Amino acid sequence: MNYKTIIEPFKIKVVEPIKITTVEERKAFLKKANYNTFLLNSEEVLIDFLTDSGTSAMSADQWAGIMQGDESYAGSSSYHKMHKTVFNLTGMEYIYPVHQGRAGERILYSLLGGKGKTFISNTHFDTTRANIEFSGAEAIDIVIPEGLNPMQYHPFKGNMDTEKLEN
Ligand SMILES: Cc1ncc(COP(=O)(O)O)c(C=O)c1O
Repeated sequence: MNYKTIIEPFKIKVVEPIKITTVEERKAFLKKANYNTFLLNSEEVLIDFLTDSGTSAMSADQWAGIMQGDESYAGSSSYHKMHKTVFNLTGMEYIYPVHQGRAGERILYSLLGGKGKTFISNTHFDTTRANIEFSGAEAIDIVIPEGLNPMQYHPFKGNMDTEKLEN
């Protein structure tokens, strides 16, 4: 045996039921939505890969943290705790918490974006592109060609096409 099975070092205490659908039903849901996954109802989706945000189980410490959190309108000790932790991880002095990624992008591109600006990525996340374009800037995706072919094997399909980048 050249591999070792490692069990997950935690117990999951909460389960949320999901609606089981058949392949035929899911094909029909997709057709009805004109193959636009944003038009699907969540109960029509068996396994949701659209985002990783808020889809994992919270740890006992995270749940406890909600009860211990300092909700003071100003000078909250929870803010200082968060600031210290993020500063230790990143070395960044100016830290601005936002409640979601898309909200952070809205603030970031209202400052960095604007007409005549161009942003280049392997593949922009949908809300990233939306916030860039809303600011008047352009978003360009230059993932390697293998990344656009779902049937082709490649060790890392997220690579940026560096020739296209130079061009
Ligand atoms: C670049 C980027 N922007 C936005 C999001 C969405 O985050 P949220 O659901 O917190 O807005 C994600 C993650 O799914 C992301 O990777």
